[in-house]
Amino acid sequence: DTGELVDRFGRIARDLRVSITEKCSLRCTYCMPEEGLPSIPRDDLLTPAEIARLVGIAARDLGVREVRFTGGEPITRGDLVEIVRLSHAAAPAASLSMTTNAIGLDRRAAALREAGLSRVNISLDTIDRAHFAHLTRRDRLPAVLAGIDAALREGLGPVKVNAVLMRETLADAPALVRWAVAHGVKPRFIEQMPLDADAAWARGEMVSARELLDVLGAEFDLAPVGRDDPAAPAEEWLVDGGPATVGVIASVTRSFCEACDRTRITAEGTVRACLFSHEETDLRGMLRAGASDAELADRWRAAMWGKQAGHGIDSSGFTRPERSMGAIGG
Ligand code: GTP
Ligand code: 5AD
Ligand code: SF4
Repeated sequence: DTGELVDRFGRIARDLRVSITEKCSLRCTYCMPEEGLPSIPRDDLLTPAEIARLVGIAARDLGVREVRFTGGEPITRGDLVEIVRLSHAAAPAASLSMTTNAIGLDRRAAALREAGLSRVNISLDTIDRAHFAHLTRRDRLPAVLAGIDAALREGLGPVKVNAVLMRETLADAPALVRWAVAHGVKPRFIEQMPLDADAAWARGEMVSARELLDVLGAEFDLAPVGRDDPAAPAEEWLVDGGPATVGVIASVTRSFCEACDRTRITAEGTVRACLFSHEETDLRGMLRAGASDAELADRWRAAMWGKQAGHGIDSSGFTRPERSMGAIGG
């Protein structure tokens, strides 16, 4: 037993995604219901020390090399800096990153970097203020742009911008690419997955990577350069001869499940082996009952052994998981 998080298909999880809250400052239609998600009772949330303990076990005993904090929106947690600081102390060799909508990042970027965060990916679907307000149900584009400036200023990079492909903002894609290239951030476009809380997603209406490439191809000269590494979700395209690139995450039409290297912990301290898992394995109860690191690592390994082959979105047996994206963290 090498101690790694291996599944029955031979994949090894080296990338841990830790969701730390279900709360969010936006209400993107592809992710959250209008009213937000039901609050997780405070006692059910992992504390900073508990998160750091699991991060330490993952890095030391289970072979995890990268840790990404997600939400909901991680910045809504008042103790985010402490979570990062304790996680960094528990796993000094792991690279710590965060996926965020950047609202409030202007006031936190410096402290986060000092606490040990290396980089951020920022969710931004359009730079048209009215379209942004409609899609996210909040008129907060200026706050997001201030957060991106802060990330760049503090060196939390390379900074990537994630845009989920939606019909209503597809025509804004070229402007987003131009803006991103001019600002030194890397644009990436993501096919929408059926994890919206409102269950409005329909395969036939989803904007595909193919459609995006047609829209971008009309304005830019695009040349394929493949993936940075085989497990990376994004396929890269050189824009107008480079050096700028745009990333395309075709999660649905060109799934990368067979190379998946992810394991997830929810804000309530359960392991999710896949975004689309129907089962979760509780670690919080064990942790609070005094389990040893070795016992927690064993249970985590067992949870990953049960990981499914892939999301199966195009198969007849596909069923949505109970949690929506807002509670999984992407
Ligand atoms: P980098 O390390 O910077 O490449 O980050 P990342 O792309 O792994 O993470 P990020 O949080 O920016 O995720 C970008 C998008 O990738 C998310 O919005 C998801 O749609 C998609 N994604 C992330 N993890 C998975 C996964 O395990 N499975 C699938 N199908 N999609 C994923
Ligand atoms: N499909 C694909 N990506 C999504 N995200 C949120 N909801 C979805 C969805 N239904 C993205 C966010 C963020 C990342 C964590 O997940 O835009 O960048
Ligand atoms: Fe919030 Fe991020 Fe979901 Fe948007 S994508 S509603 S910012 S969790």
